[in-house]
Amino acid sequence: MEKRILGNTNIEISPVGLGCMGLSHAFGTPLEKAEAADKIKAAYDMGYTFFDTAECYTGTNPDGTTAYNEDAVGQGIKGIRDKIVLATKCGVLHKGDHLEMDSRPETIRKSIEGSLKRLQTDYVDLYYQHRVDPNVEPEVVAETMAQLKKEGKIRAWGISCVEEDYLRRAHAVCPVSAVQNVYSVIDRDTERLFPVFEELGITLVAFTPLAKGFLSGRYSERPTFDHPEDNRSGRFQFSEEGFQYYQQALDLIRGIAEEKTASMAQVCLAWMIRKKPWIVPIPGTRSTERMMENLSSAYVDLTAEDIVKIDEALNRMNLADAAAKRMKKPEIVK
Ligand SMILES: NC(=O)c1ccc[n+]([C@@H]2O[C@H](COP(=O)([O-])OP(=O)(O)OC[C@H]3O[C@@H](n4cnc5c(N)ncnc54)[C@H](OP(=O)(O)O)[C@@H]3O)[C@@H](O)[C@H]2O)c1
Repeated sequence: MEKRILGNTNIEISPVGLGCMGLSHAFGTPLEKAEAADKIKAAYDMGYTFFDTAECYTGTNPDGTTAYNEDAVGQGIKGIRDKIVLATKCGVLHKGDHLEMDSRPETIRKSIEGSLKRLQTDYVDLYYQHRVDPNVEPEVVAETMAQLKKEGKIRAWGISCVEEDYLRRAHAVCPVSAVQNVYSVIDRDTERLFPVFEELGITLVAFTPLAKGFLSGRYSERPTFDHPEDNRSGRFQFSEEGFQYYQQALDLIRGIAEEKTASMAQVCLAWMIRKKPWIVPIPGTRSTERMMENLSSAYVDLTAEDIVKIDEALNRMNLADAAAKRMKKPEIVK
């Protein structure tokens, strides 16, 4: 399988990474740790070498204890640690019933130690600042990351949900290798930053690339998600208005999928993989079949002309309006 290079490093990654979050966070009851770990091992066996987690990805187990996604990932990568590229994140902390941004150097240092312990490793390949902290200058965060690199605790760093000015200031102090932003056929706002990514040699790690499963076309009717820790329920695409709003986009993707003998999820992922050699989506799934389906999107034959055709059709749908509505929902880290 084709490999991609992570930003301005020599680190090789699979063209599709595995978003591990949903195994234990934000999609209802967490999987049991051993089961989640088995899914991660299965993903590696089929060709995934890029795994994404975060310090704050936690859920509540049926017995009331906390499930840490990093714990499950740590167990899943035992025995393959040096063969995979491991990404985790800091800077968003649980404070009782809410989450807080905290990127002070002392907090980042405490966070990396906790992550290394849960992940059962002595280094992280890609360490993200999960959200910008308005109280800490980008130079201060970048300097902390530079020190962690020198100490061998991280190999590269990235920022999630970032704008140009902050990115440039951080990059000037310690080169940023990846930006993790939301990106999908119905949410293309980050395309504004493409010239910057290209100029600075940054990989775009596309999160929520299937709009939480919506773009797979699996929902013929508007679904409801009742579990209190399933944050799909608050998403615009799953609201009555959103469900109708995006039907045209779904029809477009369905048509291309039929033409290419691929699934809709594969078309959505191939659309970004083939668009730029520096885009790597990280879809999440609890199903090993869908893991394989998503990874195989790297083989879907979407040409440059197909991508232009899809983009032009999407442009005519004015989906940015809906994306703006979606952003009004609490978007902290889920
Ligand atoms: N940096 C950030 O702030 C941030 C925010 C959100 C997410 N992330 C990262 O991005 C990763 C992915 O994002 P996400 O989980 O929010 O959204 P996503 O990958 O767009 O969607 C996940 C959902 O799609 C379904 N799905 C996956 N593949 C499918 C397929 N081939 N066919 C049908 N359904 C499919 C999954 O259901 P099943 O389990 O039933 O397959 C799951 O419900 C996360 O795991 C996390 O690592 C980062």
